[in-house]
Amino acid sequence: MARKKVTILALQEKKARGEPITMVTAYDYPSALAADRAGLDAVLVGDSLGMVVLGYDSTVGVTMEEMLHHCKAVRRGTQFAYLIGDLPFLSYQADRAEAVRNAGRFLKEAGMDAVKLEGGREMADTVQAIAAAGISVVGHIGLTPQSAGKLGGYRVQGRTAADAQRLLDDARALEAAGAAMLVLEMVPDRVAGRISQQLRIPTIGIGAGRGCDGQVLVLHDLLGMFDRFTPRFVRRYAELFPQMERALAEYCADVTAGRFPAAEHAFPMDDAEWAAWVDEEGPHPSPSPALRERE
Ligand code: KIV
Repeated sequence: MARKKVTILALQEKKARGEPITMVTAYDYPSALAADRAGLDAVLVGDSLGMVVLGYDSTVGVTMEEMLHHCKAVRRGTQFAYLIGDLPFLSYQADRAEAVRNAGRFLKEAGMDAVKLEGGREMADTVQAIAAAGISVVGHIGLTPQSAGKLGGYRVQGRTAADAQRLLDDARALEAAGAAMLVLEMVPDRVAGRISQQLRIPTIGIGAGRGCDGQVLVLHDLLGMFDRFTPRFVRRYAELFPQMERALAEYCADVTAGRFPAAEHAFPMDDAEWAAWVDEEGPHPSPSPALRERE
C-alpha cells in the first residue's frame, strides 16, 4: 500500500487498534529525512534542541525564532511523518492571545501539523484557545523540562498516590480542553499505563514505560550524539559522537600529512591548455605539493 501522510486521525486510530505510535525528535533536514525514511509516525521538533543542538544548559533560553528556523528545515526533510513543533518557554504562558498567535506561526510559517506545550490543568484554557483556532495541540505533563527548576530538577513525577492522581486530573483536563495527544515524561510506568487507559487521546511516553500508546526519544540520545549525560530511560541504538570525533581526527591528520586530497579528489586540466597557460604566465610562484607532483 502506498505510504500516506500521517494525520492526527491516523494516530488516534493506531491507539484504538492498540498499535504503538512511533515518534522521535529531529531538528534539521538530514535528521528529518532519515526519520521519515525510517518510517516514524511522527517527528517532534522539540525545544530539547536548545541543549542537544545549540549547547544551552536547559531549554529555557530557546526562542520562537530558533524553533521556527529548525521546524522549517525539518519540514523540508519530511514527506509523511506527522510534525509537531514545541512552543518554547514564555511563548504561551503569559498571554492566551499571544499563545494562539505563536502557535499559529508554527503552522503558517514552518508547516508544522501541531504544536506541543508543557503543563497540566493550568494550561487547559490555553489549549482550548489554541484548539479553537483550528490548531492541533499536544500536551506534555510529568517532568516538564521548561519548569524543571520549579520541580526541583529532572526528577520522576507522580510517584505518590496523590501525585499520580494530580497527573491523571491534569491529563483529563487537557483532553477535555481539546488536546489531540499527550506526552508523559518520566512518570512511573503503572501511572502512565493507567492514564493511557483512561484517555481517548493517544499518550506518548518518554521514560514512562510500555503502557503508553507510543514512544518518543530525543534523537541525539538514541544515536549517541550527545555526550553530556544519558537519561536512564534511553536506549542507545548507535554511538555516533565517537565515530564523528574519530572521522574528524583522521581527516585533520590526513590534511596535515598531505594524504588528503589525493589525485582522485582533484579536477584535471587538459595538458595543452596547461602548457599554453604556463608558457604565458610562467610557473606558479609557489606550487602546492599536489601541483608539483602533477607537473
Ligand atoms: O523537547 C523535547 O524533545 C521534548 C521531548 C523530550 C518529549 O519535549
